[in-house]
Amino acid sequence: MNATLNHRRVDVTSENEKYTPKPQKQWSMSNSVEYVLREQRFVFVLVGVAITTAFFLFLQPEFGSGQRTMDVSSYTAVQAYNFDESYQTTRTFETAPYKSHRSAIVSLGGKIPLGLPRKPLRIVVTGGAGFVGSHLVDRLIERGDSVIVVDNFFTGRKENVQHHFGNPRFELIRHDVVEPLLLEVDQIYHLACPASPVHYKFNPIKTIKTNVVGTLNMLGLAKRIGARFLLTSTSEVYGDPLEHPQKETYWGNVNPIGVRSCYDEGKRTAETLAMDYHRGADVQVRIARIFNTYGPRMCIDDGRVVSNFVAQALRKEPMTVYGDGKQTRSFQFVSDLVGEGHVKVNQ
Ligand SMILES: NC(=O)c1ccc[n+]([C@@H]2O[C@H](COP(=O)([O-])OP(=O)(O)OC[C@H]3O[C@@H](n4cnc5c(N)ncnc54)[C@H](O)[C@@H]3O)[C@@H](O)[C@H]2O)c1
Repeated sequence: MNATLNHRRVDVTSENEKYTPKPQKQWSMSNSVEYVLREQRFVFVLVGVAITTAFFLFLQPEFGSGQRTMDVSSYTAVQAYNFDESYQTTRTFETAPYKSHRSAIVSLGGKIPLGLPRKPLRIVVTGGAGFVGSHLVDRLIERGDSVIVVDNFFTGRKENVQHHFGNPRFELIRHDVVEPLLLEVDQIYHLACPASPVHYKFNPIKTIKTNVVGTLNMLGLAKRIGARFLLTSTSEVYGDPLEHPQKETYWGNVNPIGVRSCYDEGKRTAETLAMDYHRGADVQVRIARIFNTYGPRMCIDDGRVVSNFVAQALRKEPMTVYGDGKQTRSFQFVSDLVGEGHVKVNQ
């Protein structure tokens, strides 16, 4: 009998009909193109591109606005302060630095896609127990960041920041920036330095050490951990200026051997260090040259004009006007400095 029971379709092929694998196809461009066209894959690619373009153009207008055409970090560090290595380039900025600086700040806001909450940052504020520093800390905590204050309490006070004690997003370290420090943070605001003449002349060697060694330490930290760095410099870098008001392109009329040089020259060196770390080690750097700032928590007897007037008025003493009284100063309230200045510049 020839019939075979074969319920499972067990192989009944003869030796000659053995399975031969499909020959491998050679890859070629024309085959791929043909496949994409035949299977209409191209349509899917086009739809994907169209959706992505629509998202960035219409939902995220700042991506299409053309403001993002320059690297903001290097812009802020190099161009906003007109420290461009080429002096000729520097001079050409004279007419419009403020305008372009503003647009850079505006475009910075566009870094965070709309609708997405900003990731809270870990920030160290040196000199955070001082006048300006404590207001900056308030601002950073208020916007949801975690702040580590590093201060040696030379002119700063715990009372300036004690309202944050117990907040898990706040830490206070008693430390002198002249000594190295290792912390893991996203940003560094470097304010540590006595700011009023009474205080910085008290120990000039310590003042210049704070400005030079302290800044070097904090820049080294920024480089090591990849943190963005903001230096609070001063209008004193212009020395006894020969032009008013001072543009950022003006390099100053300075005295390296005077009794104020520990501060003025210290800050100038700190700026130099910051720019060298930016150019040489790619550290993202911001430099804020602060002019006279006043507001709550400023030291009442620091010898500066606003505090002098306020203190004398409170004590009902005659107000002292130095010289012929025709001197001019530029003043700002502390909340304008930390909000519109520091925080935006370092975004
Ligand atoms: N207030 C202004 O009008 C003004 C103007 C120009 C520049 N600035 C700059 O702004 C920054 C803050 O000024 P401020 O007015 O708040 O002064 P401030 O004296 O109130 O604060 C300075 C803080 O730094 C701390 N500090 C000083 N040396 C330190 C060190 N070696 N290690 C650690 N901490 C140290 C002090 O204890 C203090 O808390 C300074 O860098 C200053 O040069 C201020």
